[in-house]
Amino acid sequence: MKLVFATNNQHKLQEIKQLLNGSFELLCLNDIGCEDDIPETKETLEGNASEKSYFIFNKYGLNCFADDTGLEIKALNGEPGVYSARYAGEDRSAENNMALVLAKLDKIKNRNARFRTVVSLVIDGHETQFEGIVEGQILEEKRGETGFGYDPIFKPNESTRSFAEMSMDEKNKISHRGRAVQKLVEFLMSGKSI
Ligand code: IMP
Repeated sequence: MKLVFATNNQHKLQEIKQLLNGSFELLCLNDIGCEDDIPETKETLEGNASEKSYFIFNKYGLNCFADDTGLEIKALNGEPGVYSARYAGEDRSAENNMALVLAKLDKIKNRNARFRTVVSLVIDGHETQFEGIVEGQILEEKRGETGFGYDPIFKPNESTRSFAEMSMDEKNKISHRGRAVQKLVEFLMSGKSI
């Protein structure tokens, strides 16, 4: 069965291809000639993931899944959440986003936060969602060089290191996206989706 992953992020694509072990013909947006700016107009991760996967299904008639991720900080009432990519502005600068988070948490003791990923899978017009969460803390300052986004200021509770101090493999085993994708892959491999 053909399955579109609504992304052109090669890293995400390779990761899932490996997990699916050839059971599905996985296509990315380039593979289906999609150059659209896919709308993300909702105010929740669930809404945006769903909007993206249905956009592809409705336009191309292909089964599809899409993901959406946010960093949810307890002391900031769940911010930046669905606005994580553009928290400090439309230029989507990771440095500015991290600086804004650190400034807002200045002198705040409660550093609890979590990353949450929602994956929306649409097969024959029917949607199933999968959630992955990693709980952790926002550090006082940046630590580490690897990864992307908020990785240098996020330390998962099951480690003494920030995400940016971990190898990709190590991070994927416990990360929000890794956990959501594991659930998606288990569902697809169980045959329940067909
Ligand atoms: P997306 O939905 O995967 O595009 O993620 C939205 C935004 O959340 C990204 O632009 C990053 O700022 C942040 N983000 C998502 N996943 C991660 C991660 O694994 N580490 C750090 N930041 C992330």
